[in-house]
Amino acid sequence: MKKRVLFVCLGNICRSPSAEAVFKGLVNKKGESKDFFIDSAGTSDYHEGEPADERMQSHAIKRGYNLTSVSRPFNPEKDWDDFDYIVAMDRDNYRDLENMARNKEDIKKLYMMTDFSKKFNYNFVPDPYYGGSEGFELVLDLLEDASEGLYEFIKQKG
Ligand code: 4NP
Repeated sequence: MKKRVLFVCLGNICRSPSAEAVFKGLVNKKGESKDFFIDSAGTSDYHEGEPADERMQSHAIKRGYNLTSVSRPFNPEKDWDDFDYIVAMDRDNYRDLENMARNKEDIKKLYMMTDFSKKFNYNFVPDPYYGGSEGFELVLDLLEDASEGLYEFIKQKG
């Protein structure tokens, strides 16, 4: 059975498309792409149908990540069933997802990305949308670090 992982932020144009690409890159490096299904979504539909933010794309490509995803809103009727791990970027995302959960089993699938951090001591991935380039770099730093921890967690859980 493939491990199915969905990354979720607000707009699905900055943080979660990056998380999707970084985690796909890691899994690919491990030679395990076929064992995973990885996607991303937003808690809002503000940017539905749009590609990732151009600033986020240009920072990501410098590290070798091609952001190909197109923004879509989280679908509570489908996504809780279609994924095993639903990983929020910040507290607002987490709370919005919690409010969309249908039952306790759904909530068991919910995680914070920074719960898997190994080196960094942040408890959320800050929204880079209204800030400068340091914010986009920080997003990538946090995601690269937490992706390692998430990968280990999933492997351990079996
Ligand atoms: P994201 O960033 O949640 O990481 O995709 C944002 C994108 C858009 C907005 C806010 C955050 N917005 O307000 O439109």
